[in-house]
Amino acid sequence: MRIAVAGGTGVVGRHAVARARAAGHDVVVLSRVGGVDVGGVDVGGVDVITGAGLVEALQGADAVIDVTNTTTLSAAKAIAFFETATRTLLAAEEAAGVGHHVALSIVGIDGIDSSYYAGKLAQERAVATGPVPFTIARAAQFHEFAGQVLSGMRGPVALLPTLLMRPVAAREVGAHLVRLAEGAATGRASDLVGPRDEILLDVARRQLAYDGRRRRVVGVRLPGAYGAGLASGALRGGADARQGRITFDEWLRSEDHVRGG
Ligand SMILES: NC(=O)c1ccc[n+]([C@@H]2O[C@H](COP(=O)([O-])OP(=O)(O)OC[C@H]3O[C@@H](n4cnc5c(N)ncnc54)[C@H](OP(=O)(O)O)[C@@H]3O)[C@@H](O)[C@H]2O)c1
Repeated sequence: MRIAVAGGTGVVGRHAVARARAAGHDVVVLSRVGGVDVGGVDVGGVDVITGAGLVEALQGADAVIDVTNTTTLSAAKAIAFFETATRTLLAAEEAAGVGHHVALSIVGIDGIDSSYYAGKLAQERAVATGPVPFTIARAAQFHEFAGQVLSGMRGPVALLPTLLMRPVAAREVGAHLVRLAEGAATGRASDLVGPRDEILLDVARRQLAYDGRRRRVVGVRLPGAYGAGLASGALRGGADARQGRITFDEWLRSEDHVRGG
């Protein structure tokens, strides 16, 4: 198959690309920075917001995995990014004759329609009402999430939101997305969560200790529906979710964890 991975240079996208390549698929990587490989031909950067280069990059693709991302806590910015990226991608997929769009969303966000999650819910709606057969896969926070949050904060003290989660390895999420892209569109796939309940503050401290970094991290309960949602345990998913096998501490000791990253 030819599988295009939008956001294929990102945290989970890199794993999806590697997994698809290892399975023998022809893989196209869509991102603004770096080369785009279309049948071995580098056609340059592709932007899912402007649509530049998209239709030609998608020629011959059977499925698109969308793992693009934006970093914001503004609901308006998140909605603008995910709606525009999804509509632009889907229009290009329709023009190029792509038969399956696989979108990655987040477990447990239904009752937290604010901040970043408002963008993910808008993305899900745009996918579900769009012109291309789809599968929406939701995953829990990645083991890489604590590092992503810490690296986005400046200063000696990092304030981390109270967040109850069931983190999963991005490697396992990438493999899950490729399996879904290989099959038929199902609308909604099973949720994928990790093997153990964790708290963001605890995993961040374990990661800093493992990396030998001295940085103070303090937990804060964020206000409003967003803060309540993070602290509620909803993001840990339900009993019917599929479970990844790699624990946070196993991931910490694995090659997937870049110290200090
Ligand atoms: N992180 C988590 O814990 C987690 C958990 C569950 C679900 N998710 C979902 O997984 C998805 C990926 O997250 P991530 O953390 O892997 O993201 P990430 O590491 O921030 O990577 C984002 C990717 O999107 C690309 N991108 C951004 N803007 C683009 C644009 N305008 N055009 C083309 N490509 C663009 C980036 O490449 P360029 O910058 O080169 O364009 C990069 O490849 C997100 O939708 C997120 O909601 C994340």
